[in-house]
Amino acid sequence: MLRSRPSRQITQAKHGDGKLVRMVSTADPLSIDASDLRIRRVGEPTLSSPMVRLLRGRASSPHYVHESDRVLLDDTVESAVAHQCAVGDLPSMEPGGPREHIYFDPPRTRAAIVTCGGLCPGLNNVIRGLVLELADNYGVTEVLGFRDGFRGLVDGSPPLRLSHDVVADIHNRGGTILGTSRGGQDPAAMVATLERLGVNLLFVIGGDGTLRGAQRIADEADERGLALSVVGVPKTIDNDIPFIDQSFGFQTAFTRATESIKSALTEASSTPNGVGLVKLMGRHSGFIACYAALASHDVDFVLIPEVPFLLDGPAGFLAALRRRVASRGHAVVVVAEGAGQELFAYDGAVDASGNARLADIGPLLRDRMVADFAAAGTELTVRYVDPGYAIRSVPANGWDAVYCLRLAQAAVHAAMAGRTAMVVGRWHGRFVHLPIALATGSRNQVDPDGDLWMSVLEATGQPARFS
Ligand code: F6P
Repeated sequence: MLRSRPSRQITQAKHGDGKLVRMVSTADPLSIDASDLRIRRVGEPTLSSPMVRLLRGRASSPHYVHESDRVLLDDTVESAVAHQCAVGDLPSMEPGGPREHIYFDPPRTRAAIVTCGGLCPGLNNVIRGLVLELADNYGVTEVLGFRDGFRGLVDGSPPLRLSHDVVADIHNRGGTILGTSRGGQDPAAMVATLERLGVNLLFVIGGDGTLRGAQRIADEADERGLALSVVGVPKTIDNDIPFIDQSFGFQTAFTRATESIKSALTEASSTPNGVGLVKLMGRHSGFIACYAALASHDVDFVLIPEVPFLLDGPAGFLAALRRRVASRGHAVVVVAEGAGQELFAYDGAVDASGNARLADIGPLLRDRMVADFAAAGTELTVRYVDPGYAIRSVPANGWDAVYCLRLAQAAVHAAMAGRTAMVVGRWHGRFVHLPIALATGSRNQVDPDGDLWMSVLEATGQPARFS
């Protein structure tokens, strides 16, 4: 198949001058071909599925994709045409959902769940959804929960037995009942534990680093000839996993962030020349900042990692802020934590997940605003609001609760059918299976030429660039 454009690759690099610079990284569907989308299996599904009772008479429709059908990767005519191939050869994804045949025999199947990385609203919903789907619809009652991330697969701590009772009301709570941690572990040691405990299905809930770890587990099991299905449920409040419409917990997180924006606006508009500055999570992707700003529709400026900006000069951010305060009497600025990293020298520090430790843009902006207004002889009161972890430690809202449950159901269907080294996600409104390699091979970012950023520019009235 034609590969007409190279894949645009991952985020950031260190420049010769020691500064952390942004690189465009959204994966380009035109660079993807059928082999990138193939889903691995631990074996052929030959057993009749208990879900058959719900599948009779189902055929692909606007509301359902049959297991023999495929979901197209591209959703515009131009991009489909650009592949220059027959319609049946267009890059496409395996649909999620129950299959008529499964690989694992439910009474002889043992599942396990692990949650890794930072918190995200809905983790407990996914855990509960997995446990109940396995038990109630497939008859798999042996479900273990590893504690504290991948660490729990190697440190000898006994896993939690996840029964109906244990998960009864966990979906009403934030966090994860299993605990979580950052950092990978030796795949051989993790697979040894899984083999010793007789685990056949492993559900891994985590971000890109975690999912790479899940891939290594699947590969190690494969090398040992172990029939272990490893299925991921991508987790990131930053919404930065590619080929997924939206990640679970994201809606809850940006909705919670709007409360901080409201507070900042109240403060800013109650004082002469007030500026409310709100810093929100978003390491390399500014989705939370954009969506929270749009949901509030009260924000004057949004600064995100994908759109570098200059502070000084007549076309810089500080001059634009002074003009806005002069015309409206106050202003609200939302900044994603990863924005403006080009303004700092980067020391190369990374966290346990291998993520770059970012410099703190919030205080820098606040200090530069104060200095700039003072130099211009203009009064200014800055109210700095950093909700930090508050936006991700809350329980899932209704929308995310539904999404988490449906992702969990799709993950169980995939694992029982013997799929492995994959994640479940929703793409163009359809539940799909995505190889882990594709989900971790690039990063979803706000496209400075895309319609989300356009909406932000329309809503805020800020210039397209501060340069
Ligand atoms: O990766 C998601 C995220 O929420 C980022 O936006 C943020 O930088 C990071 O987690 C912080 O998490 P922690 O302090 O737990 O490493």
